[in-house]
Amino acid sequence: MPGTLTLYVLNGPNLNLLGVREPEVYGRETLADVQARCESAAGDARVVFRQTNHEGELIDWVQEAREQASALVINPAGYSHTSVALLDALKTLTIPVVECHLSNPAAREPFRHRSFVSPVATGVVSGFGPFSYELAVKAALNLVHDKASAPGRSHNA
Ligand code: DQA
Repeated sequence: MPGTLTLYVLNGPNLNLLGVREPEVYGRETLADVQARCESAAGDARVVFRQTNHEGELIDWVQEAREQASALVINPAGYSHTSVALLDALKTLTIPVVECHLSNPAAREPFRHRSFVSPVATGVVSGFGPFSYELAVKAALNLVHDKASAPGRSHNA
């Protein structure tokens, strides 16, 4: 549909195992459940929802989002804490970027306290389980509308 906004929701490694992976941390909902939540939260916007276990593929998709998306929601999973390459890819974006986590990494092991993504994210939503994604989608769409009414404002300088 012409004029429809496209929102990318990208997921990093091991999130394909949502529902069975450490349910005491990540809950029992599957990634398909999370996708349904995102699509519902996005309303009329088109959601491109993907997951990969491979860093290069995630970076390819970030670069694709740069061309195709009005905003990006990303749960980089373990790459949040390790990937300079992902940071570099995100730095090329001018669209709003919302970093999203099911758990609250700041309340977990010290190695999760550093995120390479947070410094270039417009904002971060974490700790609300699958609801984090709904909040992130809403925030991303809000930022797009905000940006439309405030030309020239940069979200992730
Ligand atoms: C996560 C938190 C990360 O620390 C972890 O490596 C994940 C999932 C989350 O959604 O809570 O894989 O991003």
